[in-house]
This record gives sequence, structure tokens and C-alpha cells, in this order.
Amino acid sequence: MNKLQHIAVIGAGVMGVGVAQCAAEAGFKVTLVDTSWEVLDKAKTTIANNVRFAGLMKGIKSVANSADIIEKISFTTTYEQLCDADLVVENVTENWQAKQEVYGHLEQHCPPQCVYAVNTSAISITKVGGITKRAANVIGMHFMNPVPLKGTVEVIKGFHTSEATIATADAFLSAMQKEMVLVNDSPGFVSNRVLMLTVNEAVNLVHEGVATAEQVDKIFTSCFSHQMGPLETADLIGLDTILYSIEMLYEQFSDSKYRPSTLLKKMVDAGLLGKKSGEGFFKYSSLE
Ligand SMILES: NC(=O)c1ccc[n+]([C@@H]2O[C@H](COP(=O)([O-])OP(=O)(O)OC[C@H]3O[C@@H](n4cnc5c(N)ncnc54)[C@H](O)[C@@H]3O)[C@@H](O)[C@H]2O)c1
Repeated sequence: MNKLQHIAVIGAGVMGVGVAQCAAEAGFKVTLVDTSWEVLDKAKTTIANNVRFAGLMKGIKSVANSADIIEKISFTTTYEQLCDADLVVENVTENWQAKQEVYGHLEQHCPPQCVYAVNTSAISITKVGGITKRAANVIGMHFMNPVPLKGTVEVIKGFHTSEATIATADAFLSAMQKEMVLVNDSPGFVSNRVLMLTVNEAVNLVHEGVATAEQVDKIFTSCFSHQMGPLETADLIGLDTILYSIEMLYEQFSDSKYRPSTLLKKMVDAGLLGKKSGEGFFKYSSLE
């Protein structure tokens, strides 16, 4: 099992920001990598605000605390600092080409013992292991959104994932006070094989005029006592991420039951990506 000091987080979007915050709060040295300084600057502001807000909710004077957390994170667009990384959490866009490009960089810069934790919605962990020279060190780490508020992580054992890698993943998550549910590899794992079909079918119902988005979600919240309906969940995840994930499932299983809804495609083309763009099935103010 690797001793963990330096955690690299790749991708500073919805998930990467949350993972970087949690890792820094757990006391790790963190390097956050993305392709543009605009994204990284936004990530820095988001993390500072989230730490401050969480502190206020707990009644702690947390302004200094927020600066302490930011201090632990190094923001960069290059991979040089990863030469002594112990564990990488990769959270880039759910696109095979983008992921492949990133693993090319990681293979060049990370030390051989470094563990790669793949945060993906639907890509097989065995497939990711196959594009590296260290498949035993590759594990799925499917965080839930928002990362700082979710205590359980779906962890996926790829075909070659070693017991030592599982122990390292467990130690990392425990340090962040998160529990893991360990499952075997399959595209979409447990969570998204079920969730993506549900969301896709909910979108089809809206498209066919069977019900409005509000009505679909109300059935789930009021009748099934779910905390959130499938369409609000989709808005929170990001409709682009939903579309890429269902496309991934369609491609990997070669099964038409994963055919993406045409309304979902149209909304993504129109830039209606959900909460992150301000509008999806529902509208959001920037303060939410
Ligand atoms: N959004 C969710 O609720 C959720 C939940 C669990 C897992 N995931 C998975 O986590 C991953 C990230 O999702 P997200 O919602 O944070 O996406 P996002 O679109 O919010 O962020 C992706 C980030 O990756 C960056 N990126 C793209 N190519 C890159 C590259 N070559 N190098 C470095 N950075 C690059 C982008 O600039 C962007 O900041 C995806 O694989 C997604 O399926 C998402």
C-alpha cells in the first residue's frame, strides 16, 4: 500500500474541485491540473467559497481556514509537479479521447508506484487500465456530487486491480471520512447502469409530452420519497455529462436500450447543461 502525501487531481470541473477541496481538508498536499487558467482561477474561488460556507454552517470563523486550504493546493496547467505524486484522481470530461490524452501525460510524469483513481460515470476501469503500463495500480473511484457532502464512494475493481491498490484507495477515502462500496468492473458500474437509463427514460417522457419535467420529478419525490427527481438530478450532474455517459454505455454494451434521447442531445447542443450553465430542465440562479 502506498503511503499517501501528495494527491494530484486532474480536471477542475464540478467533480475535481470537490475532490481537491476534500483532499486538502484531509491534510494532503494537492496539485490541481486543468487545461486553462480561467478554469483554475474559477476553481480557486469556488473552493474558497465552499470552505467558507461550510465553516459558517458549522459556526466556525473560517476565513483563515479557507486560506489554509487554498494554501495546500497548487494550481497548474502542466504535469511536471506530479513527479512525486502518490495518488492521482482523474476527473476530466467524460470523453475517451480526453481521458486517453491525460493518461499519456500521467504515464510520462508520475512515478511507477503511483495509483490512478479514475472518476468516471461510465467508462470501464479495465479499459483505462489497458492504456497504461500499470493496470494493477488503476482503480475506479466514482465520487458522488457534491463531493464534500457525500460520504460514500462507489469504488470499482478493474480486471487487474491489485489488493494493494484497493487498500491505498480505502486509506485515501478514510482520510477524507468517506466510506467505499467496492464493486466489480462493468461500464456504468452499479450506479450509472441504473441511473442513466432512468434519466434517459425520464427525458423521453418529457419529449413525448406524457408529463412535464416538474410532474416527472414530483412522482419520484412525492410518491417514492426520493430526495430529488431524475431530471433535477440530471441538471445537477450536467446534461452534457449525462449524454456522454449514456453514449459510452451504448458504445460499450452495443445495446440499443442505451440509445440517448434526442431531446437530451438537443438540449446539450443548445447549451442547456443544467445547474452549471444556469438552465437545464429547471432554471437556476448563480447563488444556488
Ligand atoms: N458531474 C457529476 O455529477 C459526476 C459524478 C461522478 C462522476 N463524474 C465523472 O467525473 C468526470 C468529470 O466530470 P465533471 O462533472 O467534473 O465534468 P466538468 O465538465 O465539470 O469538468 C471537466 C473538467 O475537465 C477538464 N479537462 C478536459 N480535458 C482535460 C485535459 N486534457 N486535461 C486536464 N483537464 C481537462 C475541463 O477543462 C473541465 O474543467 C467525468 O468523467 C464524469 O463522468 C461526474
